[in-house]
Amino acid sequence: MSKSNLDGVKVVITAGPTYEAIDAVRGITNRSSGKMGYAVAQAALELGATVVLVSGPTALAKPQGAQSVDVQSAEQMLDAVKANLTGCDIFIGVAAVADYRVAKPSAQKIKKSGDNLTLELVPNPDILAYVAGLPNPPYCVGFAAESENLFEYAEKKRIAKKVPLLVGNLAQQAIGSDDNELILFDDNGSETLPRSDKLTLARQLMQRIAHR
Ligand code: PMT
Repeated sequence: MSKSNLDGVKVVITAGPTYEAIDAVRGITNRSSGKMGYAVAQAALELGATVVLVSGPTALAKPQGAQSVDVQSAEQMLDAVKANLTGCDIFIGVAAVADYRVAKPSAQKIKKSGDNLTLELVPNPDILAYVAGLPNPPYCVGFAAESENLFEYAEKKRIAKKVPLLVGNLAQQAIGSDDNELILFDDNGSETLPRSDKLTLARQLMQRIAHR
C-alpha cells in the first residue's frame, strides 16, 4: 500500500475529553488524555490526508500539519465539527465526550454552604450520531471505551450509532496510558490489534480505514 494513499482525503477527528462547566472555576470532565486521538491524527497525516483535529482540553502538542480547533464542551465540539464537515471524507470520533452537561452553569463561583447541592444534568448532543445520520455522511468511525463486556457493548454501540466501523478498547487500560489494545468491529466481525503503543495502533487502524 502506498505511503500516500489518503492523498486528497479530508479526515475530521475528535480527541480528548470535554469539559462541562459547573461554575466559573469548576466543571465535569474525564481522564482522556487525547493521546489516542492525536496518534490517529498523526497516522492520517503520514498517509497524506488533510486532517482537522477538534480537541478538548489536553496537555499534548498538536501534530504538525493538522488543522487544530480547540474546544471545551460537547456543544462547542459539535459546532466545530459541523463547521469543518464540508468536503469531509472520513470522520473519526476518538473523543470521550461527556454524555451530560449542567443545565444551568453559574457564571460566578458557587459559594460553599452547609446545605446539599444538587446539579441538574441534561443530555449532550451526540456528535458521532449527528455526523453518521447526515443524508450523505462521510465514512464514520466510532470508538468505545468499556470497563466490562467489551465485545457485547461495543458491537451494540456500533449498531446504535449506525457506523460501519467501531473501535473498542478497555477503559481502564486505555485512558491516559501510552499503550492500548484495539478491537475493530464491522459487518464482518471483529479484529484485535494487539497491545502496542498508541501511534503504532493508530497507524494500523488508519491503514485499515484507508483500505476500506
Ligand atoms: O485520550 P486517551 O487517554 O488516549 O484515551 C483514549 C480513549 C479511551 C478516550 C479512546 O480510545 C476512546 O475509547 N474514546 C471513546 C470514549 C467513549 O467511551 O466514548 P462513548 O462510548 O461515550 O462514545 C462512543 C462514540 O460516540 C465515540 O466515538 C465518541 O467520540 C462518540 N460520542 C459520544 C458521546 C457524544 N455525546 N458524542 C459523541 O460523538
